[in-house]
Amino acid sequence: MKAVGFYRNLPVDDPNSIVDVEIDKPAPRERNLLVRVKAVSVNPVDVKTRARKADDGKLAIPGWDVSGIVEETGPDCHLFKAGDEVYYAGSVSVQGADSEFHVVDERIAGKKPASLSHAEAAAMPLTSITAWEGMFDRMKIIRDPDLNIGKTILIIGGAGGVGSIATQLAHEAGLRVIATTSRPESTEWALAHGATYTIDRTKDFKNQINDIGLKYVDYIFCLNSLDEHWDSIAKVIAPLGRICAIIGPKGPIDMGALWDKSVVFSWEFMSTRPNYNTPDLIFQHEILNDLADLIDNGRIKTTLNSTMSPINASNMRKAHKQIESGTTIGKIVLEGF
Ligand SMILES: NC(=O)c1ccc[n+]([C@@H]2O[C@H](COP(=O)([O-])OP(=O)(O)OC[C@H]3O[C@@H](n4cnc5c(N)ncnc54)[C@H](OP(=O)(O)O)[C@@H]3O)[C@@H](O)[C@H]2O)c1
Repeated sequence: MKAVGFYRNLPVDDPNSIVDVEIDKPAPRERNLLVRVKAVSVNPVDVKTRARKADDGKLAIPGWDVSGIVEETGPDCHLFKAGDEVYYAGSVSVQGADSEFHVVDERIAGKKPASLSHAEAAAMPLTSITAWEGMFDRMKIIRDPDLNIGKTILIIGGAGGVGSIATQLAHEAGLRVIATTSRPESTEWALAHGATYTIDRTKDFKNQINDIGLKYVDYIFCLNSLDEHWDSIAKVIAPLGRICAIIGPKGPIDMGALWDKSVVFSWEFMSTRPNYNTPDLIFQHEILNDLADLIDNGRIKTTLNSTMSPINASNMRKAHKQIESGTTIGKIVLEGF
């Protein structure tokens, strides 16, 4: 079957940085689904995986955002059957899905939103699981607008892939959403995807939050450059507030800065459940099914911003180059082989 991958880390403009390959079609075992891949989205993790690739001559296949059709089920599957449309992120600890077929544990796949095309659906899983787990699981935000009256969340990186769904989910939960942006086009996008206000991420946050009429924010969801924003974060988080970050620090972080406000800090990594095969692995199936209902009920929209076809090395290099620029707004999807 056709696939797209890389053997070593080369600059993205090098035609050998990402190549078209032929690999064996996998077989579904136990609770695995064999999925015919219709569309994949490209995330910073694809770029980081390429950047970390050892020069060992081995092929790596990225791709951790899929929309497709179940071709065959493993003997222990009972959530899906052949012909069902599914969408999923999978696990970054196993081979990605930039291939005509891919296997995934059914407990981390969800029913594809019926109202979305495969390209629109492929934009959603990885970022939505991250945003959902970060806000509703880690920070314990309750998805009930009556319980969130007057509560505010600051989302750092508001127009990126994760930001574009986090702003919508937070708005849907009844929070007042402040998103950071730095450009007119990302500001416009964030305001169209659930943000109530935007602030400039290149300036100190405190004065900008005060200008909105607030002293503090109750929650901070940091999706970008934790070290760079740490001082601002520590200043604007409310006493007893909660912070979640999805990117590791580049150096030591001064946790003591949060001490006298009794702030809770948490990490979110969307592959923790599949990587460690946690007993509640099926939570990601439930997240994706709940999200599909929100989308099909018109409460959440796809974060797809650009589509390329077909899924091949040439288009994948263009997508990696865009992600590497750090300026991506919404999601990039590749469709069809
Ligand atoms: N832990 C997890 O499970 C998990 C899951 C998904 C992603 N991630 C990681 O989270 C990060 C964000 O992912 P993503 O998919 O949202 O990325 P993305 O789509 O590439 O984010 C691009 C956006 O980031 C904003 N940005 C750029 N530099 C920034 C800075 N210094 N501070 C704040 N915002 C900045 C830009 O908007 P403006 O220039 O307008 O501000 C741009 O729109 C990546 O490092 C990714 O690897 C982690």
